[in-house]
Amino acid sequence: MRIGAVVLAAGHGTRMRSSLPKVLHPVAGRPILQWVLGSLRSTRLEDVVIVVGPEGDAVRQASPASVRFAVQHERLGTGHAAAIGLDALDPACDTVIVLCGDTPLITADLVGGLVASYERLGGGGAMVTAMLDRPESYGRVVRAHDGGVARIVEARDATPEERSINEVNAGLYCLDRVALDLALGRVGATNNQNERYLTDAVTDLGGTLWPVVSSDPDVILGVNSRVDLAVSETIAQGRLRRALMLAGVTLPDPSTVYLDASAEVGADSILWPGTHLRGATSIGAGCEIGPDVVIADTTVGDGSKIVSANIRESEIGVGCEIGPFAYLRPGVRLADGAKIGTFVEAKNSSLGRGAKVPHLSYIGDAEIGDGANIGAGNITANYDGFRKHRTFIGAGVKTGSDCVFVAPVRVGSFAMTGAGSIITHDVPDGALGIARARQSVIEGFTEKAEAKARAAAAADSPRQSAG
Ligand code: UD1
Ligand code: CA
Repeated sequence: MRIGAVVLAAGHGTRMRSSLPKVLHPVAGRPILQWVLGSLRSTRLEDVVIVVGPEGDAVRQASPASVRFAVQHERLGTGHAAAIGLDALDPACDTVIVLCGDTPLITADLVGGLVASYERLGGGGAMVTAMLDRPESYGRVVRAHDGGVARIVEARDATPEERSINEVNAGLYCLDRVALDLALGRVGATNNQNERYLTDAVTDLGGTLWPVVSSDPDVILGVNSRVDLAVSETIAQGRLRRALMLAGVTLPDPSTVYLDASAEVGADSILWPGTHLRGATSIGAGCEIGPDVVIADTTVGDGSKIVSANIRESEIGVGCEIGPFAYLRPGVRLADGAKIGTFVEAKNSSLGRGAKVPHLSYIGDAEIGDGANIGAGNITANYDGFRKHRTFIGAGVKTGSDCVFVAPVRVGSFAMTGAGSIITHDVPDGALGIARARQSVIEGFTEKAEAKARAAAAADSPRQSAG
């Protein structure tokens, strides 16, 4: 068998009410279409054609280079779309998998099982079905006496009796290419929707169409509305959480943890409630993340602890501590054992090994050396109103509380700065930089001030009683 695949993916889906093509809506951070393409990964395919609508540019951009595209200019139904896809498919393919681009939960196992069934049973083809308690808008499967599929009736076209059938069409087929081609040529638009149905063609192949009943009805879910999208998100999250737990990650309350499909977590890490791991995020082993942490596109080394923080596009070393209430914007790099504490914002900055910014600070465009300790309330003033500049703070530096570093500026290794200093000039290695008005002391001030106030009050009161 030489197998090709045609993925039906045109349109925005009228019930989605969206400007985004339906198949690009994300489930666990990954477009639906990518999930569908992923389900084909363990089947040897000669060619993959995705049928897109005239608005298909965004779909092209989101697809791997190995697939090809066919354009359906008018949305005339799944049969029409399949015919366009089949025309574009490598002629050497004698077998074709046709599948809907809006079913994010189908698995490689399901596709593999379908292909194996077709190989074993022959006939016109095989299709996936599922038994649903509430079949709702899915096409109903009407079986023939031999157990094959006689007809597929769309819910909208079904009689009450047909509507009561629980076996539904998953929209995933493995078919004899030539038979499908001929059947698609015969399909008219004689239904309630005035569409050319693929379902009419697959049940008119001239050979038996064998049903392969999915043991898990969840996997066939098609996304036609945002409600379906939320249901598929819930199921996808369940799968991802379960996979992490089985890989040795503790989730004390799994339903409160949100994972993108690309997130990775090492064994013996714990994800407390309210943890969100987005994009290409990788958490090491033995970490403690959460409660209330959002991490996107960031790597975190083993044994780090992060609580109540929002972190994007950063690199966190081994044994680091972050939060509570920390905000790390893109480009923050923490070497091993570094700490970003409470009410600290950082961006595009690096902290050396064991360096600490424990409290109430803004660190932007700065390089902080190994073991440096930044006092409470320090700010790197990185923007002069026109351009951004960098601050360099050497190894072992200790800065006083409430210092401002007006960049570009450099504080040498093992230097110190006095509390409340506005540092505008470089501080050499080992020196103290102090830049604040000297304190003056006025002796007996309180007593004199009180005497003055009493005298003023006495001068006021006779005038009041006379009035
Ligand atoms: C379809 C099936 C239904 C099945 C269900 C499974 C038909 C007639 N109905 O119904 O039996 O139970 O899927 O999820 O096939 N598409 C195009 N061009 C078109 C029309 C659709 O590319 O002209 C694509 C859509 O982008 C979508 C897929 O085909 O990804 C399915 O179309 P949709 O309108 O969602 O069909 P359903 O009503 O869900
Ligand atoms: Ca659908």
